Amino acid sequence: MIDCCLFVRLESKVAIITGGASGIGESTARLFVRNGAKVVVADIQDALGLALCEQLGGPEGVATYVHCDVTQDADVRNAVDEAVNRYGGLDIMFCNAGVWGNKFPSLMDSDDGNFRRVMEVNVFGAYLGAKHAARVMVPAGRGCILFTASVFSATAGSLSHPYLSSKHAVVGLAKNLSVELGQHGIRVNCVSPYIVATPLSTRAAGKGKEELEELASSAATLKGVVLEAQDVAEAALYLVSDESKYVHGVNLVVDGGFSVTNPTFAGVLRSRA
Ligand SMILES: NC(=O)c1ccc[n+]([C@@H]2O[C@H](COP(=O)([O-])OP(=O)(O)OC[C@H]3O[C@@H](n4cnc5c(N)ncnc54)[C@H](O)[C@@H]3O)[C@@H](O)[C@H]2O)c1
Repeated sequence: MIDCCLFVRLESKVAIITGGASGIGESTARLFVRNGAKVVVADIQDALGLALCEQLGGPEGVATYVHCDVTQDADVRNAVDEAVNRYGGLDIMFCNAGVWGNKFPSLMDSDDGNFRRVMEVNVFGAYLGAKHAARVMVPAGRGCILFTASVFSATAGSLSHPYLSSKHAVVGLAKNLSVELGQHGIRVNCVSPYIVATPLSTRAAGKGKEELEELASSAATLKGVVLEAQDVAEAALYLVSDESKYVHGVNLVVDGGFSVTNPTFAGVLRSRA
């Protein structure tokens, strides 16, 4: 009889997770370790990241925290070097760190510094992650680079300009990289969640976890379930494991069908009935 609990999908793989100290990144770090990976958590929240790795690491030290501001080339280089020196290589780069920026200003009231900052973390940071991962993965002739984009990379109109632009840009970057890096056996994909109650989203919405989940569920297409960080982690696990060995250049929306519909016309009809 096969014991399903012994089936681990990332045995002997080494992963870096940027933004791994909190939210989706934290859930993914936990899931990757449970699936046999060695994980480098790269973040700027040192206390959170260290505590997580201490909890996950155990006596074998399978999780390591590295302070890494994804906008700093030297920090990202160092995170990759740490993975290689400590665990012997790099199989998975999960570029997940992201910021929301300011709240919904209209174009006329928008803040240039905020636009730059959001693009710097969400896009430039993702680019640096891919660049330094490729430095190790190209000579190895294999690897997976995964980006967290957003369901708002597949829709438009309801979020701030910098955040929405940054997530569209991440998908463009991933697709372009998939063409170049696919030649070297490196798979590149995006995972794009609908609203998950994390520190980023609760802060952005100015709501508590339950209230935000209730709001998100009200607007959702798929009813009866709530999207959680663990669900995004499961999608990420699929995209970096050998089960998805021919999945490449894809933006996998984990949105319960939110992006397939535009309820605006039906809403107007209902409001005028
Ligand atoms: N929560 C949602 O509803 C949602 C939906 C779609 C996409 N996303 C995306 O998911 C990703 C993870 O966000 P989350 O919701 O888990 O939020 P979170 O705030 O819990 O986690 C984001 C992490 O990124 C880190 N970070 C921020 N700036 C950084 C930098 N310069 N360098 C390194 N780390 C940095 C933060 O310290 C934090 O630990 C982000 O890219 C976000 O845009 C979130």
